[in-house]
Amino acid sequence: MTYETITVEQRPEPHGAVTLITLNRPQALNALNSQVLEDLIAAFAAFEADDGQRCAVLTGSGDKAFAAGADIKEMADKPAADFYLDDFFARWTSHLVKATRKPWIAAVNGFALGGGCELAMMADFIIASDKAKFGQPEIKLGVAPGMGGSQRLTRAVGKAKAMEMCLTGRMMDAAEAERSGLVARVVPHESLLDEALKTAATIAAMPPMAAIANKEMVNAAFETTLDQGLVVERRIFQILAGSEDKAEGMAAFVEKREGRWKGR
Ligand code: CAA
Repeated sequence: MTYETITVEQRPEPHGAVTLITLNRPQALNALNSQVLEDLIAAFAAFEADDGQRCAVLTGSGDKAFAAGADIKEMADKPAADFYLDDFFARWTSHLVKATRKPWIAAVNGFALGGGCELAMMADFIIASDKAKFGQPEIKLGVAPGMGGSQRLTRAVGKAKAMEMCLTGRMMDAAEAERSGLVARVVPHESLLDEALKTAATIAAMPPMAAIANKEMVNAAFETTLDQGLVVERRIFQILAGSEDKAEGMAAFVEKREGRWKGR
């Protein structure tokens, strides 16, 4: 498969491969145009369909940006009816979030602004370089977030900070993003990719069905009441309790050896 705006590399790790996807429009600070969306949809579908691929990392090329937002030049002259009729931005969530059950990490290497911040927040978690900067500056363009920023940022950092960021367009640096719960971890810029790939390899070495299940139950916390979420958690636990990997994992613990996973 060839892509115009991203690169995709399958990295064989000892216990399960990791897919590295890199946004590759550095001259436009990896701005997200329609071709990027098509390429990402295809790359994520291929990742999801390949049983050998267990975890993905998404990052940006160049030293400056993860992604500086939706492509402003593409949107500038687009009529409102086209945005509405195409349900513009809907496919980001339907394909990258809803249709991707396997875990993936955003490795944010610089600016993550507007759609870039929103894309990072679609990941299961974010690892950020100490040079990363996050923001929802759409208000300065006379618009507002469109790929989930008003919702996912608010859930991640709370109303006060999300509202301040959306209304002022100010950027949040990596340290503030970590303090606020937006990112899982901040690492030195030079070691970002290594750290993200190492973390992905750790996840790739886990029993794969349990990885999907853990992701599904944590995500349920954003979609349900506490009572409903607790039921989701118990039901998924009970399903896993019947899996071959549960029998293997518990036997391996007792026998003091590594588990050998079947993924079922
Ligand atoms: N869309 C299209 N092109 C972009 C872009 C974007 N979002 N962000 C940067 N670029 C382009 C610039 O136009 C420039 O191209 P040229 O060399 O052809 O002029 C190139 O990338 C480099 O950018 P700058 O010269 O501006 O770089 P800088 O270091 O001076 O500034 C920056 C960096 C502060 C990130 C600045 O580029 C910037 O403010 N970018 C726009 C950020 C933004 O508003 N993002 C939100 C977009 S709207 C959105 O995302 C809607 C949504 O919710 C989905």
